[in-house]
Amino acid sequence: MNDISDRRNAGLKNRPDLDAYWMPFTANRQFKADPRLLVAAKGMHYETEDGRRILDGASGLWCVNAGHGREEIAAAVGQQLLTLDYAPSFQMGHPLAFDFATALAKIAPDGLDRIFFTNSGSESVDTALKIALAYHRARGEGQRTRLIGREKGYHGVGFGGISVGGLVNNRRAFLTLPGAEHIGHTHDLARNAFSKGQPAHGAERADDLERLIALHGAETIAAVIVEPVAGSAGVLPPPVGYLERLRELCTRHGILLIFDEVITGFGRLGAPFAAQFFGVTPDIMTTAKGVTNGAFPMGAVFVGRHVHDAMMQGPGGAIELFHGYTYSGHPAACAAGLATLEIYRREALLTRAAEFAPGFEAAVHGLRDCPNVIDIRNLGLMAAVELSPREGAPGARGYEALNRAMRAGALIRYTGDTIALSPPLIATPDELLELVGVVRGVLNEIA
Ligand SMILES: Cc1ncc(COP(=O)(O)O)c(C=O)c1O
Repeated sequence: MNDISDRRNAGLKNRPDLDAYWMPFTANRQFKADPRLLVAAKGMHYETEDGRRILDGASGLWCVNAGHGREEIAAAVGQQLLTLDYAPSFQMGHPLAFDFATALAKIAPDGLDRIFFTNSGSESVDTALKIALAYHRARGEGQRTRLIGREKGYHGVGFGGISVGGLVNNRRAFLTLPGAEHIGHTHDLARNAFSKGQPAHGAERADDLERLIALHGAETIAAVIVEPVAGSAGVLPPPVGYLERLRELCTRHGILLIFDEVITGFGRLGAPFAAQFFGVTPDIMTTAKGVTNGAFPMGAVFVGRHVHDAMMQGPGGAIELFHGYTYSGHPAACAAGLATLEIYRREALLTRAAEFAPGFEAAVHGLRDCPNVIDIRNLGLMAAVELSPREGAPGARGYEALNRAMRAGALIRYTGDTIALSPPLIATPDELLELVGVVRGVLNEIA
């Protein structure tokens, strides 16, 4: 049975064969024994195979910022596929890729107006790291090869991304790049638990970069990459002054600063990008997810004009960057992206989180007295509730929360024993309260 509406009507009776599909970042055997299948989505809600409506408290996977089933995006993609389904991306062009880059440049942080297209966050990260290396080499500083990430960072799953990433499980079964190192993370329950917004303590943790500079010499370091707000590690907003300090150190030592805005980009904090929200401008910025509202795979790397221009040299016929993807700037992705940006503009979604953040913050921090809660963190329309792990079973409470929330009618995310919330930016205040209410019920049920 291929027809989706037939499948919806048939419900549970027509569950697909689950064996062949190896699911990503999923406990496959556990899932297949007790699957959670979504069959449709509209606005703020998913629909499950048994016909239940589920409030989306996670924007899918931090990506569906404008809500589900947006007709303009579907129409733009459909029309584009019938007009020009594909154009070679190397040495050929098509108008929409230029139009979309121009539109993105208009909302970019100051100076970050040269755009390289990818198909995912992981590809955006690897692209940014490669641009950093190539930039230094083009300027005669090819010895700058070290790439610095941060503990607890998540930068996707490419070899570059896992090398600078700092989540141990994502690294330990694999090889990582030589020359990739990490500064310490900023998670500090002792000083910052239950902070509202940016925590007060920890700006000095940026100075950890000086340790690596002292150890290796700044002249060997190409770039530092951080998520302005760590997402996958469980929503860790930067301490007040931290990003400013990192920026200052990078500038002083000629090191490129990369913000990984795959989650924070496209309105999550109440500004188009975290760079603008914090007033700290990186040299390169990686994005994906919200760039097409999750409707089409795409990523975009925003490159500072100074970085880009330094590489536009040599003979006119020389390829300046030996890098790219078959689907860089795919016509349908660009159509989806342009339609998405138009929705964001028309509905003022890129700044809407600022309006609802205070109410969301108050509601989420109202969960403080629920059982096992050891921290609550929030910024814009993202928040986390950290639970103490069950003895001998870390992560068990988190997984139970996901399942119970699904049964209670809401989709949430969890990492370890931390529950993360990032509802679509179209959420009404009532829907935000409803989401927090579901989480309250779930927390009260989890022993
Ligand atoms: C900050 C960050 N960088 C990179 C990625 C990887 O993106 P993708 O899964 O599209 O490769 C993610 C995904 O969640 C992310 O949160």
